[in-house]
Amino acid sequence: MKPLFIRNANEVITLKGSSEHPRKLEQMENLEVIKGGSVWLENDKIIAVGTDEQLYEQFMHQIDEAEVVDARGKVILPGLVDPHTHLVHAGSRENEFNMRLKGASYMDIMNAGGGIHASTKATKEASHDQLYAESKRRLDHFLLHGVTTVEAKSGYGLALEHEIKQLEVAKQLNEDHFIDIVSTFMGAHAVPAEYKGRPDEFVDIVVNEMIPKVAQTKLAEFNDVFCEHGVFTPEQSKRILQAGLEHGLLPKIHADEIEPYGGAETAAEVGAVSADHLLKASEKGMEMMAENDVIGVLLPGTAFFLMAEFANGRKMIDKGVPVALSTDCNPGSSPTVSMPFIMNLGCLKMGMTPAEVICAATINAAHAIKRGQEIGSIEVGKKADILIVDVPNYMQLPYHYGMNHTDTVIKNGKIVVDGGKLCV
Ligand code: NIG
Ligand code: FE
Repeated sequence: MKPLFIRNANEVITLKGSSEHPRKLEQMENLEVIKGGSVWLENDKIIAVGTDEQLYEQFMHQIDEAEVVDARGKVILPGLVDPHTHLVHAGSRENEFNMRLKGASYMDIMNAGGGIHASTKATKEASHDQLYAESKRRLDHFLLHGVTTVEAKSGYGLALEHEIKQLEVAKQLNEDHFIDIVSTFMGAHAVPAEYKGRPDEFVDIVVNEMIPKVAQTKLAEFNDVFCEHGVFTPEQSKRILQAGLEHGLLPKIHADEIEPYGGAETAAEVGAVSADHLLKASEKGMEMMAENDVIGVLLPGTAFFLMAEFANGRKMIDKGVPVALSTDCNPGSSPTVSMPFIMNLGCLKMGMTPAEVICAATINAAHAIKRGQEIGSIEVGKKADILIVDVPNYMQLPYHYGMNHTDTVIKNGKIVVDGGKLCV
């Protein structure tokens, strides 16, 4: 593969210097921008980053053998990272969308056998190949929106065989597709219909059967639970997350999404890598997260789509919580792949600045899936995952809302989106 020389961008957003820890407080505003910047890539790695003059001087004798990308007038960013998706699922739920628009609530629909249960039924009935095809399509769209790594959860099987089927689809997509996928087991996404009224019996199965088996297959790195009134209690969630830890699965938690329920506190108590959603998180919960370095993964697409109150991103950042952003891509509460739109919402609905949403969608998102050392910033030695957006400065990215400014995406050193179109 020829070296790739991306030249003369108006701005290179490097975010350098935070591979060890996520950025928090005022560090989230510091993007480490190089004006008139260039990047030199070889194979799948970033070899050099600096001003165009610096790189021209350094690689003068190799320029003839490199493929040159002209980034004049544009901005270079690290490839976006989406740290919370329900990528692998079958079907869609526009019927429930219609019901919600007429006044039904998300939880009422779920308690009546729809919601997560509807997608579980569809996913159980789907073959590996069908799930693969539906999920691959979503991955293509992620790439077209500048995303180069996603986390993907199981959780629409709710029985070992079907949870494994979802995780196997994610594994195969990780091998076949340009986007890297980091997998999470989420057997505790809902109490299955056959265990209605007996949630502890299902928790026993998750803890004693599913978690040990999933850990053995090495199909997941993380373990997640829907801690919510009427789903799993904080105590049940703790049991599930601790069982995962005993088997090497790192804890994540869907916390305080619909009602205040002590999810943020639970995350801090079990030492979760991240607590996600947090629309209704308490002040105390936020403070406990900050003290225990739990990353707050905020999913404003969910509040938008459920027509709910947004998480208080501003307050979390000011309290010292390292904040990341994600789509929550799923068929019920956030059917989108658009990280750029999520970044718009971060600014407009959660009080975050353009610099903070970029930090939250790159290096902090990478930390939320334990990939801060490999991706999320443009630094020598990191993976050559690069996004070029067709705007003259980074502030315009979340300013033109609802637009996709993706011009070029480079994944593992290869151009995969060119002029806004897939080219592989
Ligand atoms: O993150 N809250 C639980 N899980 C998803 C929604 C899943 C669904 O509705 O299918 C979420 O919002
Ligand atoms: Fe989710």
